[in-house]
This record gives sequence, structure tokens and C-alpha cells, in this order.
Amino acid sequence: MPREDREAAAGAVAVAIRKVGKRFGSVAALDDVSLDIRRGEFFSLLGPSGCGKTTLLRSIGGFEAPTEGDILIEGRSVLHLAPYERPTNMIFQHLALFPHLGVRDNVGFGLRMKGADRAETARRVQEVLRLVRLEEYGDRRVDQLSGGQRQRVAMARALVNDPAVLLLDEPLGALDLQLRLQMQEELRRLQRQLGATFVFVTHDQGEAMAMSDRIAVMNAGRLQQVGTPAEIYERPANRFVATFVGHANLVEARLTGRRQDGFAEAVSADGLAFLGQAPPHAGARDAVLAVLRHEKLRVHPSDTVQAGVAASVVERTYMGSSLRFTCRAQGGAILTADTPNDMPGRDIAEGAAVLLDWSPADVVFLTE
Ligand SMILES: Nc1ncnc2c1ncn2[C@@H]1O[C@H](COP(=O)(O)OP(=O)(O)O)[C@@H](O)[C@H]1O
Ligand SMILES: [Mg+2]
Repeated sequence: MPREDREAAAGAVAVAIRKVGKRFGSVAALDDVSLDIRRGEFFSLLGPSGCGKTTLLRSIGGFEAPTEGDILIEGRSVLHLAPYERPTNMIFQHLALFPHLGVRDNVGFGLRMKGADRAETARRVQEVLRLVRLEEYGDRRVDQLSGGQRQRVAMARALVNDPAVLLLDEPLGALDLQLRLQMQEELRRLQRQLGATFVFVTHDQGEAMAMSDRIAVMNAGRLQQVGTPAEIYERPANRFVATFVGHANLVEARLTGRRQDGFAEAVSADGLAFLGQAPPHAGARDAVLAVLRHEKLRVHPSDTVQAGVAASVVERTYMGSSLRFTCRAQGGAILTADTPNDMPGRDIAEGAAVLLDWSPADVVFLTE
């Protein structure tokens, strides 16, 4: 599809996953997964190793056949199509380049297999090499390139036939941190420039946050939550998402009532009282899990503020850009606060008496 048409159609569904299941013997790699990936979206599949990310990606690309459900691309079921017949291209975890061939031959390989003529192949290859900033390297053998450059060759090869949907399986996993951050930016730039749909697999929540329009969090073959990075981070749907993404205090508590302003009240076994946001169906005396992000908990030396939960600092950890205070509240609850390293109170010492506070808007009560 020409780029202009793609942009006009942005927001429509590019890939629809419908109740997809995949079994390998007794292992359910995918269990009843349904989700829509929109056109022009940078969409990430996020979850721990073994949760089914690769299996889902390979199912979209045609390298794996689901045992249940359907997969539609641009509104049509693709289950009967071979990988090369689908409007997708895949970048594998281990790149799968031909090390002894030159960059140009690696990138042009697919086009030549499809019978494109020599001149057209050369033109198109040069175009994508420019896109990934490798136009000077066409004649270089792949085994003479750096890790980042090989990454770009794999990108160029996947983009050369202008796929509507690009599938990327942890493509940055093997790179060291600096290069990985740089390639994250490049991938994002490329995706915006092309307006193509990217489906990106990663187990790294920071990477998914930084790159994605939306994220699907998976665990043990099941979808846990789909949303924007902010939705996932600030309104986690369950305990798994709350712990896998970011750092949070998790406190078992029981709802005691609801206030006029909409906030629910809860009390933990060790006597901590919380206000927070509870789902509408939650009722008094329901067991809940109070989720409070580390950076939303504030620590004050106890002589500097009037109110708060009395606690003492058990441990102070220097983390560079932030400080981590592990505190024991009266009653025994352990709460952790991450504080930017330029805040007043940064020199609070271990053993100090402190007051803790937080905003009810930052507390989420989960009912499962
Ligand atoms: N070809 C296969 N044969 C048997 N089991 C497999 C195969 N591929 C994946 N699995 C299993 O399916 C589950 C999901 O694997 P995978 O999709 O590779 O997870 P991820 O990419 O999230 O690490 C794992 O338990 C894995 O061992
Ligand atoms: Mg994988």
C-alpha cells in the first residue's frame, strides 16, 4: 500500500488476533489471546521469557500455525497463507543474515527471489540502505560489520519489499546498553518515517515504555493488559502487571467503605489506612491489593511536616539519579520510596524517624 494511503488509514485495524491458542504438547504457549493492532502503530508484546511472545509473533508471520482462533491482516484471515504470501516481514532474534555475503546482496536477496529485475532491485536496495544510514557500506561483507550495523542490515532487508506489518523479535537483545538505546531511537524514527505497523517483542519493560504507542503485557500464554505506556504504568490491571512493570509497594488490605469524593478506603492487616481508586464492582470488606509506585511515596524528616504515617528508615540506597528509602511504618508495614537525588531530605540517614505521605490518586486497589 502506498504511504499516503497508509497514513489516511491510520487508526484502522492492521492485525486482528481472535481467540488464538497454541499448544506444544501439554504446554499452552498461547491461551485465548485476542487483540487489535492498529495501522501505523508501534505496538509491543511485553512479558517474561517463555510467556509466548515469539509464538504470537511467529503466528502472525506464518511461521507457526495456531491450534485455535484466527488471525486477520487488513481484514482478511491469513492462516492459509505462507509467510512469503503475507504482507508481513520478520526480523528474527538472531538476525539470520548471510555472513559471507555483502550488505547489498543480503538486503536484495528477497527481491531477487521474487524475480524483481536487476535495476529495480539495485534502486530499491540503495533506497533502504539510505533509510538505515548504511549507503556507504553496500559492498562490505556482513561479517566485517559491527553489531549495530548488522542490526541495520537486518532492518533494511526486512523493509526492502515495503511490508505493511513489520514483526521484530527482540532485535536489540544482543546489543550493549548504549548501542541499544541508540537503536531504539533509530527504530522509532524509521517507524514514524515509514508510517508502517511495527509489532515489537521485548522482555524489557523500559524498552517497551520508551518505544511503544501501545503495549500488550503477557504472562504464561495469556494477555494481561493492553494499553498505552501510561495506562499500563499508572493503572495496572492486576498484580502481575503491577510487579512486572516498574517498582511498586504492594499491600494486602481490606476495603472498609467509599467516600463522597469517590475514593475507597482500605486498611491493611498491620493497620495502615489507605485511600485510593477501586473498581466500581468492589464492595466493603473485599480483599484488595493496594498498589503504590515507589516514586509516589514521599519521605519527610519528621520535624519538617505535620502529618503523615510515622516510620523509620531501615535502609538507604544510593542509586545515582535517585535514592531508595526502605521504611518500616508503625505497625510493621515495609514501604519503599524512590526520591530524586535533588530533593530536600536526600540526606535522611538510616534509623531516622520520618513521616510518609502520598496522594490517594496514586493508589490503585486491585481486587484479584
Ligand atoms: N517449537 C516448540 N516446541 C515446544 N515448545 C515450544 C516451542 N516453541 C515454544 N515453546 C514453548 O512455548 C512457550 C512460549 O515460548 P515463546 O513463545 O518462545 O516465549 P517467549 O518468546 O515469550 O520467550 C514456552 O514454554 C516454550 O518452551
Ligand atoms: Mg522469544
